[in-house]
Amino acid sequence: MKKGLFIVLEGPDRSGKSTQAAMLRDWLAGPGRKVRLTREPGGTYLSEKIRAILLDPKSEIEPLTELFLYETSRAKHTLKVIMPALKAGEIIISDRYTMSTTAYQGYGRGLDLKMVETLNRIATMGLKPDLTIVFDVPDKVFRQRECRGNDRMELQAASFRLKVNRAYKKLASAPGVTRVNAAASIEDVHSRVRSAVAALLRKKGFGTR
Ligand SMILES: Nc1ncnc2c1ncn2[C@@H]1O[C@H](COP(=O)(O)OP(=O)(O)O)[C@@H](O)[C@H]1O
Ligand SMILES: [Mg+2]
Repeated sequence: MKKGLFIVLEGPDRSGKSTQAAMLRDWLAGPGRKVRLTREPGGTYLSEKIRAILLDPKSEIEPLTELFLYETSRAKHTLKVIMPALKAGEIIISDRYTMSTTAYQGYGRGLDLKMVETLNRIATMGLKPDLTIVFDVPDKVFRQRECRGNDRMELQAASFRLKVNRAYKKLASAPGVTRVNAAASIEDVHSRVRSAVAALLRKKGFGTR
């Protein structure tokens, strides 16, 4: 059933995901090729509502509740956006997906990693990205980019954010995952992303770009 390509960009807040997602979309777009950019939490009307709850600093959310909110948003997003796009042969780029839940709710909150993996599998119905790119932020740069936003996740304690950053370093070495040094310039990071995606396009017979 799956004909398209599913690319996920991952990394801590301010690692450059949204910047690179837009650049990648622009690079990939062309005649005869439909490229769609989406994000988690979000991507559908309902999932964006859940996003607003998750990011509202006034929301009091326990770790388990938080986990289920992310997975609920993901189930809807996967069923209504990602799977249909793949079926239609589109290239879909998601700004965050399951690895974020492993990093934030698993390693960051300390929830049981097996439980998180199980819920990730249920919410995605077993769908796996064709490529996950992790923007790895060296600790020094991480501290420099620590100028925080004001959503509920960005307002978490520095210790939590550090745990998440460490988790990404670990997860970036998993098979099928491409790590990109996020400390490089925006153009250099884009060029690394392009080579990883070009290799995927060749492998999947999508024609080069
Ligand atoms: N490689 C880079 N070097 C320096 N600054 C960057 C780089 N990539 C992104 N930025 C800047 O860092 C900030 C966060 O980038 P953004 O793409 O929003 O990250 P994310 O989506 O991962 O939170 C933005 O102001 C962006 O312009
Ligand atoms: Mg972003």
